[in-house]
Amino acid sequence: MEKETLKVGLLGLGTVGSGVMNILQMNGEQVRSRAGISIVVKKILVRDLKKERAVEVDPSLLTTDAAEILQDPEIDVIIELMGGLAVRQYVEEALRLKKFVITANKDLMATAGAPLLRLARDNGRNIYYEASVGGGIPLIRPLKHSLGANRILRLVGIINGTTNYILTRMDLENMEFADALAEAQARGFAEQDPGNDLEGIDAAYKLCILAGLAFNSQVHFDTVNVEGISNIKQRDILYARELGFTVKLLAIGEEKAEGLALRVHPALVPLTHPLAGVLYENNALYVEGNAVGEVMFYGPGAGAMPTGSSVVADLIDVARNINHQVENGIMETDFLDKKVVPLEELESAFYLRLLAADQPGVFAGLANAFSKEKVSLDMIIQKRSREGEAEIVLVTHPEKEKNFNAALTHIQKFSGIKAIKSVYRVIRK
Ligand SMILES: NC(=O)c1ccc[n+]([C@@H]2O[C@H](COP(=O)([O-])OP(=O)(O)OC[C@H]3O[C@@H](n4cnc5c(N)ncnc54)[C@H](OP(=O)(O)O)[C@@H]3O)[C@@H](O)[C@H]2O)c1
Repeated sequence: MEKETLKVGLLGLGTVGSGVMNILQMNGEQVRSRAGISIVVKKILVRDLKKERAVEVDPSLLTTDAAEILQDPEIDVIIELMGGLAVRQYVEEALRLKKFVITANKDLMATAGAPLLRLARDNGRNIYYEASVGGGIPLIRPLKHSLGANRILRLVGIINGTTNYILTRMDLENMEFADALAEAQARGFAEQDPGNDLEGIDAAYKLCILAGLAFNSQVHFDTVNVEGISNIKQRDILYARELGFTVKLLAIGEEKAEGLALRVHPALVPLTHPLAGVLYENNALYVEGNAVGEVMFYGPGAGAMPTGSSVVADLIDVARNINHQVENGIMETDFLDKKVVPLEELESAFYLRLLAADQPGVFAGLANAFSKEKVSLDMIIQKRSREGEAEIVLVTHPEKEKNFNAALTHIQKFSGIKAIKSVYRVIRK
């Protein structure tokens, strides 16, 4: 029997929670007609009842008691927008009480997504998590549905807005890392404690979610190789540009014959690549499927309204499903355990910046170190020497990482090289 009103419990009324309430107020009529049912937020869990909110809500909706929402039999849908891992108990309780769950919580879905989705299936319910990756950009639904016919070969994403904002300012405005970070914090694009973003951890969580769907696999966070951007120097960004590249923090997932390859690291991206044009706080995901070819999704990767837009879209889906009794308890993939290829075995091209003694034989020594390990050079530039030192920048052709690392060991021992200043991977496509 069709319901007349869908009652929702909201856990959290911070940035995203306020965006959701705002959208329901702004586009209420449209949401109702698309959902085919009226949607009413019955209760909202917060920590502080007195706090000033970014959206106007009836104060009687607020509570600090989670049980008041979770135990309410009239509430069919829980929207979890508190964040953190402690909220897992609320999500599990909601599913056991046969409620649908919508969440924007990447930490939770990356670390406990598969067991939570199984719990949902076992209770004839579902978890919707479009907002957990890419804010307002549709990524989860395309991977689950629109690209479902494909074997996904590769995902390459710019999925952290903070780092992309910093790298864009460094590249386009010649800023140093510390200044670009301070600017990002002042403008609300970086948190006061930005460690998870800068070190690539946030992007790695999101990669776990995307790769899980793309490769029908249970992806564990500790199988992702993670490097952040905090050591990037403006000098390298300038050289990259001179060579025809920009520097981006990439999340890369690939399914190879030997297994999954999962990594987050800064990389030089050709200026002609579609991801090179993804600037400031925007995010994008580039997907290669064996039927569709290459597609790219682009847009705002965070923020109250973009993220709220994904949450409310999930709510419309839940409402349709509840009303028409479809898709309940269906899992989008079987989340198989797959082998992960160690980083050492993957092939990468590298950018290297060195300080060399201004003396004869340095190039020959370098060439020798690389050729010993079968690493071939693609580009090389040397800047005019100063005080007996010359700066050399080179880019290699792709070779196994272990071969490149062995070549680096030879170079470190070579007396003509004074310091290895920077090493970054390079992608070509
Ligand atoms: N912000 C974004 O742009 C964005 C984008 C994509 C995904 N997300 C994800 O969305 C989720 C929410 O993020 P947010 O930025 O909206 O966070 P936020 O602004 O910090 O809001 C969190 C809300 O949860 C409430 N809360 C937290 N712990 C609580 C507790 N123990 N008991 C009761 N209430 C509690 C807070 O109450 P008080 O207000 O009373 O303190 C607040 O209203 C996170 O999982 C985040 O990763 C955020």
